Amino acid sequence: MSTILPLILCSLVFLNLQTSLSTDTLKPNERFVDGFTLISSNQRFEFGFFSPGNGSARDIYLGIWYHNLPLTVVWVANRNNPIRDSFGEVSLKENGTLILYNRSSGTVWSTDNITITSDFSPVLQLLESGNLVIRDDGRNKTIFWESFDFPTDTLLPDLKLGWKLDIGLNGFIRSWKSSEDPSEGEYTFILEPPEAPQLVLRSGSRKLFRWGPFDGTSFSGGTSLTSSPLFQTLLVSNSEELYFKYEMLDESILSRMVISPTGLLQYFTWRVNSSTEWNLLVTFNSDPCDNYAKCGHYGSCYSLSSCKCLSGFTPDSPRDWGLFSYSGGCRRKYELNCGHRDGFVKYNALKFPDNPVVWENYTSHECETVCLKKCSCMAYANVNVYGNGSLCVGWIGDLVDLKNFPNGGEQIYIRMAHAELKSIASAKRKRVTVKIVSVATVIGVLLVSAGAIWYLSWIVRQRRKDQIGRSSEAQQSGSFQYVEDNQDSGFQLPLFDLETIFRACNNFSDRNKIGQGGFGSVYKGELSNRQEIAVKRLVEKSMQGVEELKNEIILIAKLQHRNLVKLLGCCIEGEETMLVYEYLPNKSLNNFIYDKPTRKQLTWIKRYHIIKGIARGLLYLHQDSRLRIIHRDLKTSNILLDSELNPKISDFGIARIFGTDQIQEMTKRIIGTYGYMSPEYAMNGHYSVKSDVYSFGVIVLEIISGQKNWAFHHPDHDLNLLGHARMLWNRRRPSEILDPTVLEPSYGNQIIRCIHVALLCVQQYPEDRPKMSTVYAMLSYENMELPEPKEPGFCRESYPKKVDTSASHSSTVNEVTMTTLGGR
Ligand SMILES: *[C@@H]1O[C@H](CO)[C@@H](O)[C@H](O)[C@H]1NC(C)=O
Ligand SMILES: *[C@@H]1O[C@H](CO)[C@@H](O)[C@H](O)[C@H]1NC(C)=O
Ligand SMILES: *[C@@H]1O[C@H](CO)[C@@H](O)[C@H](O)[C@H]1NC(C)=O
Ligand SMILES: *[C@@H]1O[C@H](CO)[C@@H](O)[C@H](O)[C@H]1NC(C)=O
Ligand SMILES: *[C@@H]1O[C@H](CO)[C@@H](O)[C@H](O)[C@H]1NC(C)=O
Ligand SMILES: *[C@@H]1O[C@H](CO)[C@@H](O)[C@H](O)[C@H]1NC(C)=O
Ligand SMILES: *[C@@H]1O[C@H](CO)[C@@H](O)[C@H](O)[C@H]1NC(C)=O
Ligand SMILES: *[C@@H]1O[C@H](CO)[C@@H](O)[C@H](O)[C@H]1NC(C)=O
Repeated sequence: MSTILPLILCSLVFLNLQTSLSTDTLKPNERFVDGFTLISSNQRFEFGFFSPGNGSARDIYLGIWYHNLPLTVVWVANRNNPIRDSFGEVSLKENGTLILYNRSSGTVWSTDNITITSDFSPVLQLLESGNLVIRDDGRNKTIFWESFDFPTDTLLPDLKLGWKLDIGLNGFIRSWKSSEDPSEGEYTFILEPPEAPQLVLRSGSRKLFRWGPFDGTSFSGGTSLTSSPLFQTLLVSNSEELYFKYEMLDESILSRMVISPTGLLQYFTWRVNSSTEWNLLVTFNSDPCDNYAKCGHYGSCYSLSSCKCLSGFTPDSPRDWGLFSYSGGCRRKYELNCGHRDGFVKYNALKFPDNPVVWENYTSHECETVCLKKCSCMAYANVNVYGNGSLCVGWIGDLVDLKNFPNGGEQIYIRMAHAELKSIASAKRKRVTVKIVSVATVIGVLLVSAGAIWYLSWIVRQRRKDQIGRSSEAQQSGSFQYVEDNQDSGFQLPLFDLETIFRACNNFSDRNKIGQGGFGSVYKGELSNRQEIAVKRLVEKSMQGVEELKNEIILIAKLQHRNLVKLLGCCIEGEETMLVYEYLPNKSLNNFIYDKPTRKQLTWIKRYHIIKGIARGLLYLHQDSRLRIIHRDLKTSNILLDSELNPKISDFGIARIFGTDQIQEMTKRIIGTYGYMSPEYAMNGHYSVKSDVYSFGVIVLEIISGQKNWAFHHPDHDLNLLGHARMLWNRRRPSEILDPTVLEPSYGNQIIRCIHVALLCVQQYPEDRPKMSTVYAMLSYENMELPEPKEPGFCRESYPKKVDTSASHSSTVNEVTMTTLGGR
């Protein structure tokens, strides 16, 4: 008898609820059991009972998952308290409480602690966002309870991870124990504390990863958390709330950020109607340098996860300092002596250390004073912690969890002993003295020639200006700064004399000329030791003095990357400025593609290798080098190939040599080549890294098709190559653009992917184009979801057709354009 009754009840419930549950809401006193679900009105999410895994133990849980996808749970109500007798029932009480009962009507889980006054009528609803809410059903839709306040292991778009300051609620996500057991695992991801918010991933109470504090645009050190073409992350702060969330930029992609049972923080996407499995877009905690406190106190982690002490510090115990080894940290070369003329030294490009405190009420100048007064305050910085204005942030105690972070790193002022400040100042003085001594030697020589005296006095004047500049800088308190990264000290750039170069290049005879670019001609030469060189003879005069020019060239020569042509030295004499490069026998890419017979050598694998190499070189110029160089004249004739057909970008940094400020966004003089110039640069002189991205996209399409963008013609229309590629894309036949000499059908997907990425690069608006880091990722990860490209920049314009298509070297001459925008 007693066993039959629940069965009857059960089937009654079954029958009763069949109609009401085709919706997304549950009304008071309605109940439902296993087998029934609520489905959000957009058909994306489903709420009901599920059973993870397929083992023998059929524990059941109440939760939310994606509707019509392989079971992917995003929220669990009773994660620590499964129903073991495979019968559960949910019911919404009149007082607004949602209760989960087991077979013997014991309460397994409930939304206790919500208080609803009697004049509201509560209703349970599964919203389109995947948020399950208990809200008032009347005109006032006040939400009393929401599952987004109690996330389990998953963040969905718009879920607020953080603090409700008024009620002291702090949300976080915690991993499942295993992929089949939703109960609380060991890993948590949390925004903490409310004062200087950082994102922290812990195992138990131990910090494993940390990003922050927020600096107005991103969490310090956490680039992959903030930049993606698919989503953007935000920190929102107001008087009631402080939270982290992400927003999806493409509605047709489902996404979730999950902390896995093994402690990986991962972001997955699913393209509606086309994906067949979840695509892992990025694992946020994948940089070994983000391992918490990897390099100990005052140690900074470099790429490849090697540790180095900050300047002014030495390893605590030198034996610990292998390339990959754990380190015991660093100690000061000179101990602090609080109150006795300690000062601050500025460090650039670091991830902020842990344990920041915010002193809201101090201005930036007071910040230094406040920190100086506290003996335990080891550093300060001005940081836009809440995104609503810079605040004074201090660090009490030894600095830990630093990372070298060349692009997007932060400035921080670190406390140093007076002795250290003195040694920095004297090192600076020494550098100046050495130069003066060498100038004195030069004086001796020059005195022989009276005519040179004028020149000399000019140099001395320059020096003096320079020195005045330096010393006034050094006088400002807190403006000490380590001038050079010790990695680079001792770098020597060979200076060639004019005679050597003339002899090597056969007096610059036409026979030695191998190319022509926006800044001058290139000649092949051979030094007396038989080393072959390529010499770029710059036509223009730099606006800078000789010394600045040399410094600039030295900076550029320090950029070393296997996809950049190596600068061997320079020659600056009189009117001549020449750059000496390594010579590459295979010449440039434009000699291989287009209608050249050589293009048959370029199989798809080689073309793909070339595309990725160019992307890598450009990424280095844009982000990974310390200079952040915009090329401005990227084209196939500037891509050289070595004997193994590895691409090497040439002509980089020359705009910089001419003293045109790279940070400036607008130039009156446009240097570039039609067909490769982005619309905003060609028409308004605006340039940015995104103009290079555009040129890169054109190059990729040219490599794939073997055609020139602006010399492209088709019997059916007057579109250029970009327009043609776009048209084929719209007709879903993108691969028809492929060079017919490439006959490798097995690479079809990779080819289409490259076309897709190229079309994203040549989009009309710079803000739509991906950054090179994203481009590189898109090319590398086959599973990464790509957004649909918008219209390309120039679709129709083409260059008047040249009759002579066979000319090889000289044809490039005509491609160069240098125009001046009217109206200075
Ligand atoms: C369920 O069982 C199948 C086949 O036995 C197995 O391949 C799969 O991994 C199991 N699923 C889980 C989540 O364990
Ligand atoms: C609401 O009603 C349920 C059962 O009727 C009871 O267990 C719970 O304590 C009530 N909650 C409040 C806040 O009164
Ligand atoms: C039902 O839940 C109650 C309260 O949690 C518990 O005491 C009881 O043992 C459960 N019954 C079964 C069959 O699990
Ligand atoms: C319910 O609220 C009371 C008082 O606000 C609090 O002490 C208690 O911990 C809460 N219980 C739960 C389960 O949140
Ligand atoms: C809805 O109810 C809340 C809480 O009682 C109240 O603060 C708010 O003013 C109400 N809004 C409307 C439109 O009645
Ligand atoms: C900035 O936000 C923080 C946190 O919400 C707040 O305390 C502070 O008053 C805000 N500052 C300004 C200038 O709005
Ligand atoms: C997915 O397919 C359905 C049915 O064919 C259609 O109604 C819906 O608009 C599609 N959604 C997207 C995002 O393409
Ligand atoms: C700043 O705040 C601290 C404590 O919060 C207080 O002691 C100090 O007097 C304040 N300073 C100013 C200038 O308001």
